[in-house]
Amino acid sequence: MMQQQRQEDFLAMLHEQHMKVQQEIMQMQNMPMNEHDRKKDVWRQFKHDITAHMDGEEKYWYPVLERNQNSRMDAQMAMEEHKAAREVFKDLDDTDMDDSRWMARLMVLQELLTSHIKEEEEKLFPETRQGIGDRQTMEIMNDFKKEQEHHRGILDRIMGS
Ligand SMILES: [Fe+2]
Repeated sequence: MMQQQRQEDFLAMLHEQHMKVQQEIMQMQNMPMNEHDRKKDVWRQFKHDITAHMDGEEKYWYPVLERNQNSRMDAQMAMEEHKAAREVFKDLDDTDMDDSRWMARLMVLQELLTSHIKEEEEKLFPETRQGIGDRQTMEIMNDFKKEQEHHRGILDRIMGS
């Protein structure tokens, strides 16, 4: 058990981030139409959280899984799903929140993310437990955290805090 601690810490961190972005989507869905300012804030926070999360996964986690024959296809699929999600972010950014298509696109994004997260947690998590060793998991987690700090710095500059 002790041997798997690094892996469990890393996967718990990813899971926590998955929960956070899903909550942010639900928050936006439940907001009244006229609460534009608050919705914009949540949208900005959501985009920051999910971009930092996806960048970290793409740069440091998927490539390691891709090197392993057993997890290659799953990692490549996850990567393609990220690409599709980024397209929807762009569409949402280009759509006025008053336009009912904004919510339609958010719903599509939610469907995409829900199935992506399910795949990750049901396939890539076990593949990480089996296929990535302690030392490498530690490296991935360190790089991942550095990436998150970098993103936090960018957000602080945008938000002016
Ligand atoms: Fe993820």
